[in-house]
Amino acid sequence: MPRYSYVNGQYIPHGDAVVHIEDRGFQFADSVYEVVALIDGRFADIVGHLDRLERSLSELRMPMPMPRRALELAMAETVRRNRIRNGAIYMQVTRGVAPRDFKFPKKASSSLVMTVRPVTYDMEERKKICRAAVTVPDIRWQRRDIKTTGLLAQVLAKQSAVDKGAFEAWMVDEKGFVTEASSSNAWIVDKSGNLITRPAAGNMILKGVTRSAMQALCKKNKIKLIERPFSVKESYQAKEAFTSAATALIVPITSIDGKKIGDGKIGKLTAEILDMYFAYASDSASKQFHWSPL
Ligand code: PDD
Repeated sequence: MPRYSYVNGQYIPHGDAVVHIEDRGFQFADSVYEVVALIDGRFADIVGHLDRLERSLSELRMPMPMPRRALELAMAETVRRNRIRNGAIYMQVTRGVAPRDFKFPKKASSSLVMTVRPVTYDMEERKKICRAAVTVPDIRWQRRDIKTTGLLAQVLAKQSAVDKGAFEAWMVDEKGFVTEASSSNAWIVDKSGNLITRPAAGNMILKGVTRSAMQALCKKNKIKLIERPFSVKESYQAKEAFTSAATALIVPITSIDGKKIGDGKIGKLTAEILDMYFAYASDSASKQFHWSPL
């Protein structure tokens, strides 16, 4: 089946979908993005992802490429043309095409591109997969709260995980505390059963939409969540560990730097949270949570 991508108002066969070489997204990573899971024909956490897209754009003084409702319709049409019910949509907004110059161009209209790919959401299968993580220094810039495509530090982090036979890299600040993973938020459950993740207010991590929804779901289901930084040492001693992100949803981490976490299988609370999030994300009747930077 041919694959179609969206490029500035047009649906183009994926192999022909291109942007200009002077697009500022290409030259300066002057662009933001979102990844949204498509589960059974429905965009999971779409409200939160569009809330965050608007906020990322406004932090960079870029306008929304089109009104929110029109964007949702273009997303739906991109999916429809690809005839998939389970997958991921990637959307990227750049400051547009202009002769290379660092300052913002006076005249440039933003570019919007979207691609779609299939993903399988079989939670029972996912629960069987044990993933290894390694820790790496967090070498990123100071505005990690903005979801920009300036992802080179994360590319290097992920590659160093892969080089060591691991799946994910947990990035660590100069004080020895885990910030987040290269493309997901990091969570642990300590020996006493406390669910812990780093606070997301401020600029030190990306505030995940999945993380925010999970936080709200935990509150609703009376699962106590402690938001505080945790150290690499604490993560080695954790009973459970996992990451959260769109499409990956909740991924059990069963070893960190070669040290086994729990019994090396998905933890009880991790499985419960995965089921809780998937039930919310896949139920067309569930009330969507908003995302806020605070
Ligand atoms: N990454 N932290 C980082 C650094 C991320 O790149 C991501 C997501 C998250 C989780 O955010 P969310 O729950 O909103 O997906 C946290 C996406 C999926 C990616 O870059 O492909």
